Amino acid sequence: MRRLPKLNPVLIASALALAANAAADPGGADALTSEGPVQPAKVEGGKYLDKDGNPTYRVTDGGRKVDWNTMSGYLRYNANCIACHGPDGAGSTYAPSLVEALKRDDYPTFVGIVAGGKRDVNAAQELVMPAFGENKNVMCYIDDIYVYLRARSDGVVGRGRPAEHEPRSEAFKAHEDACMG
Ligand code: HEC
Repeated sequence: MRRLPKLNPVLIASALALAANAAADPGGADALTSEGPVQPAKVEGGKYLDKDGNPTYRVTDGGRKVDWNTMSGYLRYNANCIACHGPDGAGSTYAPSLVEALKRDDYPTFVGIVAGGKRDVNAAQELVMPAFGENKNVMCYIDDIYVYLRARSDGVVGRGRPAEHEPRSEAFKAHEDACMG
């Protein structure tokens, strides 16, 4: 009968530690590497943040796989913004392209416009962006919508639904439950 090789307890301990890490942080060891011009600097509350502390995306596999926040942002964008801003943030005859807007607007500006609305009403046109500040379906996911559009704006995520995504973290669920009430 063949004897099983003796297992090295140090190796087992480090494999378990790696597995535990991977479970806590869905991105695993390469969690702070993304395609595109912006690299995540840290993960906080289940979100990727850039070096300035603003929410950012993590995209891998040649643009096919996104972090959960970007996926959530895609879904929320399609539920709340697409009617006016068109598919994929590309704009429509009625409302401007958000892919272009995010090349100028920083994170606080974006959140301010979505919460407070924006209007450009004159004799020639009547452009009204509604205020979503009281709408939990938007405001509880505002960072997600931002990172999705940021990824679109940086050209890292193409049109349509991302093919794959990282799992939803416990921290994301906790934030969602607390915010949605
Ligand atoms: C009812 C139509 C409508 C909906 C729904 C809507 N928007 Fe808008 N949005 C507009 C219009 C029109 C403007 C342009 C307003 C202006 O020029 O003053 C605008 C402007 C904006 C701007 C500023 C763009 C720039 O060029 O600086 C942002 C950011 C924005 N919208 C984000 C969103 C997001 C995110 C959602 C979904 C949560 C959303 N909008 C839903 C109509 C809409």
